[in-house]
Amino acid sequence: MENTNFKNRRYTTLSKLKDGVAIIPAAGYKTRSNDTEFTFRQNSNFKYLTGCNEPDAILVLTPHLEKKDHLFVRPNDRLMEIWSGRRLGPEKSKEVFDMDECYSIDDFQKVLPELLKGHREVFLDLFNETELLMKVRKICMDLDPRGRLKTPTPKAFRHVSSLIEQQRLIKDQNEILKMKKAAHATNRAHRAAMAKAKVGANEAEIFNLMEYVFRQNGAHSSAYESIVAGGVNGTILHYVQNNMQLADGDMLLIDAGSEFDTYASDVTRTFPINGKYTGIQKEVYEIVLEAMKNSFSKCSPGHTLEEVHMESVKSLSQGLRDLKIFKQSIDEIVEKNLYKEFYPHGTSHWLGMDVHDQNPYMDDDFRPITFKEGMLFTVEPGLYFQPDNLDIPSELRGMAVRIEDDILITESSHENLTAMIPKEVKEVEKACEENYEQFL
Ligand code: GLY
Ligand code: MN
Ligand code: MN
Repeated sequence: MENTNFKNRRYTTLSKLKDGVAIIPAAGYKTRSNDTEFTFRQNSNFKYLTGCNEPDAILVLTPHLEKKDHLFVRPNDRLMEIWSGRRLGPEKSKEVFDMDECYSIDDFQKVLPELLKGHREVFLDLFNETELLMKVRKICMDLDPRGRLKTPTPKAFRHVSSLIEQQRLIKDQNEILKMKKAAHATNRAHRAAMAKAKVGANEAEIFNLMEYVFRQNGAHSSAYESIVAGGVNGTILHYVQNNMQLADGDMLLIDAGSEFDTYASDVTRTFPINGKYTGIQKEVYEIVLEAMKNSFSKCSPGHTLEEVHMESVKSLSQGLRDLKIFKQSIDEIVEKNLYKEFYPHGTSHWLGMDVHDQNPYMDDDFRPITFKEGMLFTVEPGLYFQPDNLDIPSELRGMAVRIEDDILITESSHENLTAMIPKEVKEVEKACEENYEQFL
């Protein structure tokens, strides 16, 4: 059951708007090809403030009016509902979403002018909602073209998202619960993949199995296109082709996480396709695992994502020295960015409704955000040895290892939400021996 108090969330946003009206649209259907659409995914900010899953709705927040939250939704339409599914309609929506007022979306142009009066600004997603921006701009222009009204009308537009994204940075108990449910389904799917993968199987089989296990465990979808990358494919960071045969002696890098009620998990594991790491695979794997553990040491209140990243960078640089790829000192490898050939991405990103959650990385003074209880992010060090790099030992060429977990900052430390997914060498090899049917 949904316990979230969306009204309170809207009040928090309202308290930050001062003289401005916020206009936050739902997502619409996106065309995939003629007459067919992509699976609908609600706009995260809209969902965060309403709990509403309907497309083509608009939330308007008006701090200076007596009625403060207004929702425009698609009207009831028997024929359309037979074709595309039931609609709540304005009357029921008012009650279900606890709005001060609800209207048909068809009345948006007619009603909005009244909601704008008395406010000096409009907060809107200026970067992604250009069509709506143009429409609202025109309404503002027509509202008081000769400057004769005795009440303010909006004369400035500001970007709304940063307000809400700051609010979304700290996750509440309901959000954490959903992320734990996403993590649970992800755990089952990664274990199933370890059990199922074998020499000669296809990446697509593992991909499909994971999608199935996500949904079997209550997740609504995957949070992003899964990466199921056998052998050298793991050296392509965003490999999503997922249709190659798995070869003996290779590892399989899987970056896949489920989404539960618009909350993401994001997990990577790299395991041997035949069930046993080779000597050199184990060596590289242990370097990445140690980098991850060193990064965990900075996952507590007061630290920053930059510090988490630097722990992995230093640790991986040491590992690259141990592998005899570099002779230089750790400081030189780090300062001259030499490690970037083998570790080209960051260690962390915020995680929440969006897999790369739209939360600020810098505070108002452009200093890195310091961790507080309720913040959630990934830790995902990796090492990638490109197949065409002739400066490294041949046994490393084409090898890729990434390990990724989801970390919640707690009052004095952190909780690893995905710690139950095997990642120690022995645990992983054991998980590879299991029968995958237990996960179906
Ligand atoms: N799965 C996307 C990422 O790890 O950032
Ligand atoms: Mn990630
Ligand atoms: Mn990932």
